[in-house]
Amino acid sequence: MGSPRWKRLCLLFLIGLTFSAIFYGHHFTTLDSPTSPRTVARGNPTRDASKQHIPNPTKEQSSLCPWSLKSKVKMDPTFGKQFDFDIPVLMWEQLFTPEAWDRLKERNVPYGWHGLSYAVIASTVKLLNNSANRRLFSMARPPDGCIHCAVVGNGGILNGSRQGKEIDAHDFVFRLNGAVTKGFEEDVGTKTSFYGFTVNTMKNSLLAYAEYGFTQIPQAKDIQYIFIPSDIRDYIMLKSAVLGIPVPEGYDKGDEPQKYFGSEASAGKFKLLHPEFMHYLTERFLRSEIINSQFGHLYMPSTGALMLLTALHTCDQVSAYGFITENYRKFSDHYYEQEKKPLVFYANHDMLLEAELWKSLHRVGVMKLYQR
Ligand SMILES: *[C@@H]1O[C@H](CO)[C@@H](O)[C@H](O)[C@H]1NC(C)=O
Ligand SMILES: *[C@@H]1O[C@H](CO)[C@@H](O)[C@H](O)[C@H]1NC(C)=O
Repeated sequence: MGSPRWKRLCLLFLIGLTFSAIFYGHHFTTLDSPTSPRTVARGNPTRDASKQHIPNPTKEQSSLCPWSLKSKVKMDPTFGKQFDFDIPVLMWEQLFTPEAWDRLKERNVPYGWHGLSYAVIASTVKLLNNSANRRLFSMARPPDGCIHCAVVGNGGILNGSRQGKEIDAHDFVFRLNGAVTKGFEEDVGTKTSFYGFTVNTMKNSLLAYAEYGFTQIPQAKDIQYIFIPSDIRDYIMLKSAVLGIPVPEGYDKGDEPQKYFGSEASAGKFKLLHPEFMHYLTERFLRSEIINSQFGHLYMPSTGALMLLTALHTCDQVSAYGFITENYRKFSDHYYEQEKKPLVFYANHDMLLEAELWKSLHRVGVMKLYQR
């Protein structure tokens, strides 16, 4: 309790509380109502349980890359034990089995479906039956057999970095939350393959960073969206987006998904992180001491951390840009700010723990962390 880090966390909790009111304030309004019986779960799902062990496509493919980060992971005694490349990264129709429901309904969001409506979860996940829903990448392998990914966080370290060309040279570019590119092309590039978010972080980013030109999340034919399921509203928004209808219920009722994802929305444009994968990531890589505190229920890895770890489990080579480094105090919170704003720590994330993880992964050569 007496460590400086802990004191800082406590101090920042007041600020954190303000934010978590925004982040979680809606939580109780969206819980399962007593009239949507979870008992339906028992007899209803009819999926064949044998379908559960579908090989992870990214795993088979990676053997084609002679310089995969997997070989670096295997050579490292610590990361060798932490990484499990067989765990499914995405949740999709065939993984929605009665067993999956029974297991995940015991765990709270974002790691499970406790208290969430069976009807909403089932009807959402069942729409994810496109081949694009079960794996991240669909394109043919690049000539060298390796999938190169850049994951671009929004850190101030990118201001004046001139990394744009290098970022765009990757096969896939992941961005998240307030990912402004217009006006910052030289530093952060223009290409976006995946945009990761929770509905909450996306909407907060649109509100908070509109003044920097973030008036719309990245939209283009080739962009795919990675939903981080941190609340029932993420499932409801995802379902509405696939169906192309206004959000019918809950916190975002009446919202038009096309506003965010464009008009040509179909199942193939969306991915859903598997709650089990998020649980595994938190347990193995980002088990913060916050979890054991009274704020434990607020904690989850940051959106950036979830995207970077997703890339590390699916790509062969990963470079991280705009992520927190040891010397983060030198830089502004975000690359688009004109005047320096310090990075603020909230009780719902553990940025220092994330910084340590990125540093170690870089040190052993599992990924490249952009530093200056
Ligand atoms: C996916 O499910 C929808 C709705 O149930 C159905 O119309 C569609 O044909 C299915 N697509 C595939 C690829 O199975
Ligand atoms: C970002 O870089 C520009 C140009 O180098 C500079 O004028 C601006 O103050 C920087 N912003 C921050 C927040 O440091």
